[in-house]
Amino acid sequence: MPSMAQGGLRNSADSHHKLRAKFPVDDRKVDPAFSRKQKIAEHRKSLPIASVEKRLGDEVRNNDILIIVGETGSGKTTQLPQFLFNAGFCRDGKTIGITQPRRVAAVTVAKRVAEECGVELGQRVGYSIRFEDVTSGSTRIKYMTDGLLLREALLDPYLSRYSVIIVDEAHERTVHTDVLLGLLKNVQKASLDARGFSEYFGGARAVHIQGRQFPVDIFYTHHAEPDYVDATLITILQIHLEERPGDILVFLTGQEEIESVERLVKERLQQLPEGSRKLLAAPIFSALPSEKQMRVFAPAPAGFRKVILATNIAETSVTIPGIRYVIDPGFVKARSYDPVKGMESLIIVPTSKAQALQRSGRAGREGPGKCFRLYPESEFEKLDDSTKPEIKRCNLANVILQLKALGVDDILGFDFMEKPSRASIVKSLEQLFLLGALTDECKLSDPVGHQMAQLPLDPIYSRALILASQFNCLEEMLITVAMLSVESIFYAPREKLEEARTAMKCFSCPEGDHLTLVNVYRASNEFLEKRTVGLSKEKNEKILRKWCKENFINSRSLRHARDVHSQIRGNVEQMGLRLASCGDDMLQFCRCLAASFFLNAALKQPEGTYRALASGQVVQIHPSSVLFRAKPECIVFNELVQTNHKYIRNITKIDYLWLAELAPQYYCMQN
Ligand code: CDP
Ligand code: MG
Repeated sequence: MPSMAQGGLRNSADSHHKLRAKFPVDDRKVDPAFSRKQKIAEHRKSLPIASVEKRLGDEVRNNDILIIVGETGSGKTTQLPQFLFNAGFCRDGKTIGITQPRRVAAVTVAKRVAEECGVELGQRVGYSIRFEDVTSGSTRIKYMTDGLLLREALLDPYLSRYSVIIVDEAHERTVHTDVLLGLLKNVQKASLDARGFSEYFGGARAVHIQGRQFPVDIFYTHHAEPDYVDATLITILQIHLEERPGDILVFLTGQEEIESVERLVKERLQQLPEGSRKLLAAPIFSALPSEKQMRVFAPAPAGFRKVILATNIAETSVTIPGIRYVIDPGFVKARSYDPVKGMESLIIVPTSKAQALQRSGRAGREGPGKCFRLYPESEFEKLDDSTKPEIKRCNLANVILQLKALGVDDILGFDFMEKPSRASIVKSLEQLFLLGALTDECKLSDPVGHQMAQLPLDPIYSRALILASQFNCLEEMLITVAMLSVESIFYAPREKLEEARTAMKCFSCPEGDHLTLVNVYRASNEFLEKRTVGLSKEKNEKILRKWCKENFINSRSLRHARDVHSQIRGNVEQMGLRLASCGDDMLQFCRCLAASFFLNAALKQPEGTYRALASGQVVQIHPSSVLFRAKPECIVFNELVQTNHKYIRNITKIDYLWLAELAPQYYCMQN
């Protein structure tokens, strides 16, 4: 009987093998939970890091700072915290904190480790990311984003509840990681190019974990591909039809691209003969609801091949088992910042050589693999060697605000691992000053600066919420900010473009995209209130998904926006801001948008393009905007996207005269 076997064998892996040899058991009859546990235990033992468990515990105990270097997949992220827990690092009730640059990694890894420990997620093992906290008083191993730990430092500058902080993926050099390292260095007074880190930390000790890697054959295209999405699709199908079994990992640049490839794969499969359709697409990107993120780790059903469509998250932060083929179109979405113009934008750029190597390496984790780079070999030689740290290419307003709130006033003198340029620090200080967060002496203003630092949002959005409470439209602004914090809400498949446009018209508001987003949010609320009284959460979700589909709305994004809304609503209530609605007074709301987003105002030019007032850049309204055709004289916008054009998105029409009236600190100085 399975239950007896389980009871008798729980403590001994060896006797399980003996038993199986003597009585060949039908696998289907073995308690699946048990065999999974067994598999996990075996897997853990086989990881390269397992052999250095004791040494790592000793090294961490004996060194204030330790650098650990190891091949992706060697077990650093999942095992090290468990080793430290077992070595007694939590005995006095303290927690082991592990930071991750990416939300998805924090969530999926915490789930995995909770399973490995055999505990419920949120108990001993938990995670905390912006807008989602799954921890409790008993959490001792806590995964979180680097940005979140920075926020915690605001309340507890010495991070006293932690016995150990593991800054994971430090080589990624996100701006939050860099600032965190600076703070930790401060706290202690005291990867990847371990030498760089080691020098920064005054010659810290480094441990190298021996990894393993199988050979990977690299293939290039003969010519540059004009449409890499199409080339990706063809390559996926080619592998599926011609290569031996093994899963495929595809690196794409973001949610929209992933979702469109997912759809296209499904469509193309329908055109293949029945027997060739056994290909399963599994997306993974940061805005994906966390329960869906785990799907990429589940093995494909027997006879199926899995194709994982991922952002660069799958480069190093999460290791997915079973990959034999990698498709690398060679691009990544990256932040870029122009300190002269003060404009940050998201652009799609070629990867660095280091990224390309890391990506191809994913195919050789469990056996020899193949990597298909969708560009000619000559292009590879032209790539940059490594990726520039984010701190060198982003707007610093947010981190400066946080450093100021932590009492670090001399930003130019702060000990960054790599100093951002003076121009970019000065520009961001100026922006914070214009938003009212800093005084003339460059100190955090009271109460606005302090309030802004408390909100987990971009300073421009924080300012918008504070202003909205004065303009009596905080309800509308909360919705707007939540909707702007997620990836695109509308979704318009190419083949149903007209239908999608008609659906969007039901929500569209002549003032612009911000109120249109408010309409969508409210319509979904009304729909739910009417239809889901007394229904279970799952039913509720299902009904909402259907509504979204009918209205060409991205249900993942909308759900995420609802979560964001509920958290920031909690934040502003705690701060005592006045939660009122402007009702039918749209003008009031538009004036508040002008007062908030004045740094992103633009004027129409004779030929129908726009000139951004702060930067002087010539930009165009994105075709997805409700104002694409109306082309009003003066607008404010939230986002600049650079493809072959400079497009602005999320736009509202304003009166030019409001700028001088509502943002005199900027517009009167200039005139
Ligand atoms: O951090 P590092 O890259 O060194 O490795 P890790 O993330 O700790 O992963 C160790 C092993 O756990 C890998 O072989 C992964 O495939 C496996 N893993 C898994 O099977 N499922 C997860 N959700 C996370 C990791
Ligand atoms: Mg890791």
